[in-house]
Amino acid sequence: MTATGERPMEVGALPQEFVWGVATSAYQIEGAVTADGRGPSIWDAFCRVPGAVAAGETGEHACDHYHRWPEDMALLAGLGAGAYRFSVAWPRVFPEGTGRVNQRGLDFYRRLVEALNARGVTPFLTLYHWDLPQALEERGGWRVRDTAEHFADYAATVHEALDGVPYWITLNEPYCSSITGYAEGRHAPGAREGHGALAAAHHLLLGHGLATARLRERTREGEQIGVTLNMSPAVPASPSAEDVAAARRMDLMVNRQFTEPLLGAVYPADADEVYGEISDFSFRREGDLEIISAPLDFLGVNYYYPIHAAAAPYGQPDPALRSAYDIGVRTVAPDGPPVSGLGWRVEPRGLYDTLTGLAGRFPGLPPIFITENGYGGGGELDDTGRVSYLEQHVAATREAVAAGVDVRGYFCWSLLDNFEWARGYAARFGLVHVDYATQARTPKASYRWYRDLIAAQPSSSHSASAR
Ligand code: FCB
Repeated sequence: MTATGERPMEVGALPQEFVWGVATSAYQIEGAVTADGRGPSIWDAFCRVPGAVAAGETGEHACDHYHRWPEDMALLAGLGAGAYRFSVAWPRVFPEGTGRVNQRGLDFYRRLVEALNARGVTPFLTLYHWDLPQALEERGGWRVRDTAEHFADYAATVHEALDGVPYWITLNEPYCSSITGYAEGRHAPGAREGHGALAAAHHLLLGHGLATARLRERTREGEQIGVTLNMSPAVPASPSAEDVAAARRMDLMVNRQFTEPLLGAVYPADADEVYGEISDFSFRREGDLEIISAPLDFLGVNYYYPIHAAAAPYGQPDPALRSAYDIGVRTVAPDGPPVSGLGWRVEPRGLYDTLTGLAGRFPGLPPIFITENGYGGGGELDDTGRVSYLEQHVAATREAVAAGVDVRGYFCWSLLDNFEWARGYAARFGLVHVDYATQARTPKASYRWYRDLIAAQPSSSHSASAR
């Protein structure tokens, strides 16, 4: 039995070319927010709002990766990682979001990509990991359709400038960019809206589709295009019809709002009923679904925990959700499974269920990469909680592969401790500890554990060549 009381996941064989990587994102590690012509992003602005980020912290310096990236490349090499997932900061490339291109911003990523390829580490590039240029937020942000068009222009510009990137991820977690940012106000831009948040979700998906089309026009040999979703299975708190229906509404908000248009070319059938009071969906246009559902070469899945959901009386929203609108759901914390240092539930079964659920629901599902999975804790170097979490989730991945799901790789979040959004620097996810006062990097026990795991794989000497 595992600590969760479940039977241990069986360890099956992974494909030879299975990719082991680590992930980061620009705003969380780079710092250097005004260097070389970078413009402000919504996170620079949000961090200045009193109370928005724990302890008033900001990404201004973060891990100073913008200057220390060669050292971070060495850490990556020491790990033996076959792939590195990072994001490009849109405001480094277009300081005003659109119009003038900042070559110095592009040059930073060109050097990074060259260094990765020189070390045999496959770059997985995310185009949008939440740092919308502030100038575009001032023109409506993701609430407006133009932003999707600007995103496609930005994607095409980055694509043209960077050779040597086999894997392109348009968006990271559109759920967080739209709902956490525009409905709950917990993330930038800190809005609490109903219709605006649903419009943001739609325009993010549209931006993905438009960007994909632009990239396809000029795809180089072997390049693969995908999108990353965060997925949390919504588990009913009880078998009662009310709780089952509530979990389904939660599933709509977190998962199906994104998976169904992207992978099934439909808007979820229950969206009208659940969101009818909030929005008239006037942002949807004829032809959008076709753009959004253009074939993907792979799907990125970020998994951390499942959500246990129960019915709640309308008009008494769950304060934990902080949403500007009410879908009659509250989250519950059942007894039993342990939680991470951040209080996030540790339930590897949720990863297995997510992977097998996707494969079961969407015929023709593209191959999956787990583009993030990780454990948040404090400053400990002997991070046994993280090792145990990762071990269990790698085992769940193996089990999903054994059950027939086409999973091609696994990325641990994250290489370094970094700026964990509204939680600031206290929440640490790194395999490598960062002392923010000195910027000293110190590998943790989990770094050694992951290095040994990678070294023991038959594919460990291979990086992910595009298929
Ligand atoms: C994910 C984000 C990533 C990081 C982890 C802990 O939702 O994509 O940037 O914050 O959570």
